[in-house]
Amino acid sequence: MESLKDKYILLAGATGGIGRELARLLTGSGARLFITGRKEELLREIATECRLSEDCLLAADLTDINGVKALKQAYEKVYPTVDILINLSGIGIIQSTENLEEADFMRTLQVNLYAPYMLTRAFLPVMKEAKKGLIIHVPGVLGKVPMAGAAAYSASKYGLVGMMQSIREEVKRTEIRITNLFLGGVDSPFWDKIDLRVQREKMIRADEAARSIWFLCQQPSSGVISEMVLQPFNHQAI
Ligand SMILES: NC(=O)c1ccc[n+]([C@@H]2O[C@H](COP(=O)([O-])OP(=O)(O)OC[C@H]3O[C@@H](n4cnc5c(N)ncnc54)[C@H](OP(=O)(O)O)[C@@H]3O)[C@@H](O)[C@H]2O)c1
Repeated sequence: MESLKDKYILLAGATGGIGRELARLLTGSGARLFITGRKEELLREIATECRLSEDCLLAADLTDINGVKALKQAYEKVYPTVDILINLSGIGIIQSTENLEEADFMRTLQVNLYAPYMLTRAFLPVMKEAKKGLIIHVPGVLGKVPMAGAAAYSASKYGLVGMMQSIREEVKRTEIRITNLFLGGVDSPFWDKIDLRVQREKMIRADEAARSIWFLCQQPSSGVISEMVLQPFNHQAI
C-alpha cells in the first residue's frame, strides 16, 4: 500500500455521513487534507476533530461556478498541488416519474453531475501538469443498475460514470487515475429525507464505506482500480 503521509487531498462532501468518517481516516494517516461541503459550522467541527487548521476548509456550493472558483483559490493558498481529489457531494431524490418535480430533476443533475464536472475541471489542470493524480467519484450502484423511482438520480449517476470514463480517455497518456466507486446503500444522512421503506440497520456502515475509499487512496500507482463495488449482503444489485 502507498502511504498517505503528506499527500495533498481535497475532500468534497466532507460534511456528509461518509465524508466525515473519511476525513478522520485520511488525517489519521498523515494526509494533508482540505475539506469542503456547504455547512460551515460542521466543517469547523470536523476540522477540529481532525486537527486541521482553519485555512484547510471552505464552505462552498459546488453547483455555483463561483463556489468552485473560491474553493480552488482557497485550496491553492495552502497546498501546492493535489494528489487525490475525492468527491462525495451528492443528493438523492427518489420519486416516481410523474411525482418528480422538474426542479428536482434539474437540481439532481446539478449536484450529482454538473458539480462533479466543474470540480474535476477545476483541479484536473494541476494533475495534468504533474502528469499524475487520483480522482475518486462515487456513482453508487444506481450509476450502473436501474431502480424504480430513480430516474433523476440514475440519470445523474450514469452520466457521472460516462463523463469520468470519457475524461479517462483524455488523460490516458498520463498517470492520472480515475476510480468510480459503486456503493450500495450506506447508512448516512443521505437517507434522512428519502421517503422509501429501507432497512438502514442492514446497510453498509458509513465508517466502513469510508474505509473502502481510504483503501482506494492507498493503491500503489503502477495500476488503476477503475471500478470498485461494495454492497450490503441483503441487497446485491450488481
Ligand atoms: N448513502 C448511500 O446509500 C449512498 C449509496 C451510493 C452512493 N452514495 C453517494 O455517495 C456520496 C456521499 O454520500 P453520503 O451518504 O455521505 O451522503 P450525505 O451524508 O447526504 O452527504 C452528502 C454530501 O454532499 C454535500 N453536498 C450536497 N449538495 C451540495 C452542493 N450543492 N454543494 C456542495 N456540497 C454538497 C453535502 O454537504 P452539506 O451537507 O454541507 O450541504 C454532504 O457533505 C454521494 O455522492 C452519494 O450520492 C451514497
